Amino acid sequence: MTSTRPPRPARPTPSTPSARSERAARADVATAVSAAYDARAATYDESRMHRDLAREVAAFCALDGELGRVRDVLDVATGTGLVLRALRTIAPAPLRQTGVDLSPDMLAVAHRELPGATLVRADAAALPLADASVDLVTCVTALHLMPAPDAVLSEWARVLRPGGRAVTATFTGFARPARPARTQHAFDVHHDRFATSELLAARAARAGLRLRRHAAWQHVGGDAFLLGELAPDGPGLPARTPGP
Ligand SMILES: C[S@@+](CC[C@H](N)C(=O)[O-])C[C@H]1O[C@@H](n2cnc3c(N)ncnc32)[C@H](O)[C@@H]1O
Repeated sequence: MTSTRPPRPARPTPSTPSARSERAARADVATAVSAAYDARAATYDESRMHRDLAREVAAFCALDGELGRVRDVLDVATGTGLVLRALRTIAPAPLRQTGVDLSPDMLAVAHRELPGATLVRADAAALPLADASVDLVTCVTALHLMPAPDAVLSEWARVLRPGGRAVTATFTGFARPARPARTQHAFDVHHDRFATSELLAARAARAGLRLRRHAAWQHVGGDAFLLGELAPDGPGLPARTPGP
């Protein structure tokens, strides 16, 4: 694994007892998430759903030739790098790719599969990237695992260049109503948090991001997803009518 960029200093945080306990709670979640995905790393790529979704997200990013304008891409919670791999396959020009994740073992698989990519162990709520340094942020099936989604979305807004965009895929439904394996995690899993375009748009707006378009995608007979493209408010990308 390589890390060429120095970590960004953490944002100053008030050292009140509640701020300290919130930081400790987030650190506990990060440890538990990391352990859970370390355990899945060796077999993760066998998931046809995740491989197909990564290709779908890459195609969504490439709509109207928009991938042609992308040079630097950041995949947040990259896991084994499936999304970066899919983007690399269809990009019309070479991309500079960065992936961050909490799980060293997921990143080790990504490192093997993505020679030349920068892969960094980091929390999505404190990205080790400079302001305005990427053209495209992607984040697929991960927001539901994060205890501080507002901080994560704010980080996307911070690292995007003017005219840049973020593309995310979130769960909207499951083939089976209850999945015991998902509820046995040592951390909370918030599948409903971004289950509709309205929920995603409202949460993104708090971070200064606007939902430009969205689409629904369902794996054959399986889980269902919302794909959304977000862009910073203000001058930059032209407005688009949200919708598939
Ligand atoms: C279901 S996997 C998705 C991986 C990849 N995005 C994909 O589509 O295949 C979720 C990933 O999110 C990572 N993750 C969860 N919370 C994170 C956080 N706060 N910061 C960075 N990575 C996180 C996990 O380690 C895991 O690799």
